[in-house]
Amino acid sequence: MQAIVEKLKSTAAATKATDIRAAFAADPQRFEKFSVSAEDLTMDFSKTAVNAEILALLVELAEAGGVAEKREDMFSGVAINFTEDRAVLHTALRNRTNNPVLVDGKDVMPDVNVVLAAMGEFADGIRSGSLKGATGKAITDVVNIGIGGSDLGPVMATLALAPFHDGPRAHFVSNIDGAHIADTLKLVEPETTLFIVASKTFTTIETMTNAQTARKFVADALGDDAVQHHFCAVSTALDKVAAFGIDQERVFGFWDWVGGRYSIWSAIGLPLMLAIGPENFGHFLDGAHAMDTHFRTAPTEKNLPMLLGLIGFYHRNALGYPTRAILPYDQRLSRFPAYLQQLDMESNGKGVTIDGTPVEGESGPVVWGEPGTNGQHAFYQLIHQGTSIIPAEFMIAANSFEPELRHQHDLLIANVLAQSEALMKGRTFEEAKKQLTDKGMDDKKADFIAPHRVFTGNRPSITFVYDKLTPFAFGRLVALYEHRVFVEGVLFRINSFDQWGVELGKELATGLLPVVEGKESAAGHDSSTQGLVKTLAGLKK
Ligand code: F6P
Repeated sequence: MQAIVEKLKSTAAATKATDIRAAFAADPQRFEKFSVSAEDLTMDFSKTAVNAEILALLVELAEAGGVAEKREDMFSGVAINFTEDRAVLHTALRNRTNNPVLVDGKDVMPDVNVVLAAMGEFADGIRSGSLKGATGKAITDVVNIGIGGSDLGPVMATLALAPFHDGPRAHFVSNIDGAHIADTLKLVEPETTLFIVASKTFTTIETMTNAQTARKFVADALGDDAVQHHFCAVSTALDKVAAFGIDQERVFGFWDWVGGRYSIWSAIGLPLMLAIGPENFGHFLDGAHAMDTHFRTAPTEKNLPMLLGLIGFYHRNALGYPTRAILPYDQRLSRFPAYLQQLDMESNGKGVTIDGTPVEGESGPVVWGEPGTNGQHAFYQLIHQGTSIIPAEFMIAANSFEPELRHQHDLLIANVLAQSEALMKGRTFEEAKKQLTDKGMDDKKADFIAPHRVFTGNRPSITFVYDKLTPFAFGRLVALYEHRVFVEGVLFRINSFDQWGVELGKELATGLLPVVEGKESAAGHDSSTQGLVKTLAGLKK
């Protein structure tokens, strides 16, 4: 594999593949050659530094890296998360064919179907008002209490599918910062609120603490007996849920083969289902399943997640780009970049290969972004003229849910197209100078000002275009990115499915609490930590 990476680097340099602008000038068919569609979803990667030779090398890289074999291992329930001895089967949660998927010789599909049906029944009950709060009032507000994968997916998806939201109002509490739950509780009434305690492990300190605060909120207002009518839970740790005192009928399970950041398709998706209804939730799963089928069957050169992953790897390891920007031109995808930060960076932010040796080259990039057009008026300056090259990933629907605002949507489309064109084309010194002299500036001053108005161009971007952000299209998009992370993880030769990197901070926080509360001495901690503890204690009221 390393030999192909070296070849990619030298080919990029030798063929001047990074001159995207010249590539467009030389080939009017570039879009046709370097874009791929699956139904109404098109991925245009013609504005990246990929040419035919590099594409062929990337396909070779996928073969050398055994991506297709590893993909089958994932889909068929092999314990590819070997550091935790777990299969990785979020795809089984949206396996709409219902074909058996075996883990340790047992088909997981019957259990998947039972939980999905139970969620549907519960969601219908809450949405119709047949399941009521303790005082007989219908539920008008749902508060999901979770963090990381037990929060980001539901928040992001509920926002994304707002046009389909016809259930109770949805609220999300994640931060241990008491401000988060305090502000949320001000918006709801205990009598008409359902709290979902969502935690895969049911041990996460943020979630458990916020759940206790919510429990007190209900118990103080309505009495202890009312709590059972206002709480439900989603977890893999059913014994711990029972200990918290949540009625078994209101517990929705999932399994250790569902990673937290891949769990939106499981019972963790309950807030989304409550908001949009079981039928639309089903369409969301259908979309992901369609992408799974595409990923599993399309040849590499026509395979969207394969290409997205291969180009991501090329950007990181052959061209050395340290970050990538996710720029949805869809206000409802405003939390998608944050969601992808966990998906990508918790999965591929690793430095050790599956052999236990250091990663050769680079692993996952920094992922960041904001929706357009807001980002244009904030950080795009750096993307266009800064000293770092930042590959951008744009996404845009042809149609919005506001047909009466067609003009605004056309403006949105014009903006996203303008951005990718500007990044690719740039503006030369001569072009910049001419613009100035055409406006009447004298030659000497134009020479002085023009350099500031030069855009180097040749800045890569990928654009996704689709019909409309329906539950199906949205499920397909999320699954596309999940599989991209998988492809890159295989090429980095890492385990994308554990997250030991977040453990140390958690352990230290637990140890520091008695110190912060003044019950234990800070001695033994470093001098900075001791100094900060002392300073904070001095300010504490
Ligand atoms: O932040 C680490 C993490 O373990 C994530 O992987 C996970 O999504 C999150 O914490 C929440 O964990 P849980 O669902 O077990 O509360």
